[in-house]
Amino acid sequence: MGYATLVENFTEQMVSKWSDGVVMTTEAQLEAQFADTIEAKDRIEPRDWMPEAYRKTLIRQVAQHAHSEIIGMQPEGNWITRAPSLRRKAILLAKVQDEAGHGLYLYSAAETLGASRNELTEKLIAGKQKYSSIFNYPTLSYTDVGTIGWLVDGAAICNQVPLCRTSFGPYGRAMIRVCKEESFHQRQGFELLMTMMRGTDEQREMVQESVNRFWWPALMMFGPPDDDSPNTAQSMEWGIKTHTNDELRQKFVDMSIPQAEALGVTFPDENLKWNEERGHYDFSTPDWDEFWSVVKGNGPCNDQRIAHRKRAWDEGAWVREAALAFAEQSAEAAAPAQTGSAPGQTGSSPATTTEETAK
Ligand code: 3HC
Repeated sequence: MGYATLVENFTEQMVSKWSDGVVMTTEAQLEAQFADTIEAKDRIEPRDWMPEAYRKTLIRQVAQHAHSEIIGMQPEGNWITRAPSLRRKAILLAKVQDEAGHGLYLYSAAETLGASRNELTEKLIAGKQKYSSIFNYPTLSYTDVGTIGWLVDGAAICNQVPLCRTSFGPYGRAMIRVCKEESFHQRQGFELLMTMMRGTDEQREMVQESVNRFWWPALMMFGPPDDDSPNTAQSMEWGIKTHTNDELRQKFVDMSIPQAEALGVTFPDENLKWNEERGHYDFSTPDWDEFWSVVKGNGPCNDQRIAHRKRAWDEGAWVREAALAFAEQSAEAAAPAQTGSAPGQTGSSPATTTEETAK
């Protein structure tokens, strides 16, 4: 659709009634327009009118998601220099770099809502914004790289595929690219663990020990139970979320059991069993006290993760300053030169004069 048609459609949509020749679009009409778009499962774009509360909760969730991607680089980054082969190192490097890219897509989506990367990062470092609890657990062995790929990225896929259809355009489109890369992340993790399961007894024990450590924190990634989730109902109404926390957690459990059987590992939950009547696996209740304690900053690695992020942010300040200075300089150089010639006369720009002088 050409730009002119877009503008025409936009104007038609917004024109509600004329009074004294001035286009009047009342708040009620705007709200109706927004509600119709959500109802039609269409996209809200950055230039569209949106309720302030919609914008705020989107910034909250997209920022948390972006922070999670960036902080999530730390646990696995811990093993890049100690990967057991060049092949494993190359795979891990690629994956960690992908996470950085995911963070950038998401910070860019947040910027379309008026929240700058600088502002969001400062809020993260000040503890005013969250990131996923899962990244506050340590990676104690290289096996954890495989477990994170299989379970953590697997959980992320369960949570992110529905987000491809979220009502806010830039967020949903970012998710499409992210999910394509996440499927590589999950496969490389599963393949790493399968290789170890075909190795020695000691390697098999390392895999089972790693899975035991990450299973419950992976279930907690989906957020608190629905009846303890203050944001879910509204986010579902606005089409930001299309499934509840418990629905996605159940989907992840159902998906993971057959994979664990193929791998030859078990999960640390004696209540895990197929419930024919429900058509799902039953599982025990995660330790929500642990979850909230980690969310509130008391996890094994919270301080380390934020300190590392702050150090990188501080050490990178000069790069941001240099990039901004260069951008300003380039903008000045590109600005039309102020010539001394009278209006209508074609004067040469100082740059040309300089060049001519320089010749
Ligand atoms: N870690 C930290 N905080 C969490 C959390 C978690 N796992 N789950 C919930 N919370 C927080 C919420 O942010 C909210 O706090 P806030 O109001 O101050 O933001 C509070 O707990 C209540 O939770 P709600 O369920 O009401 O919050 P939401 O409706 O936002 O649902 C969510 C939580 C399901 C995580 C949702 O925000 C979401 O889908 N976020 C985007 C996806 C995401 O962040 N994925 C995980 C990280 S990305 C990743 O895994 C990278 C991969 O490549 C490895």
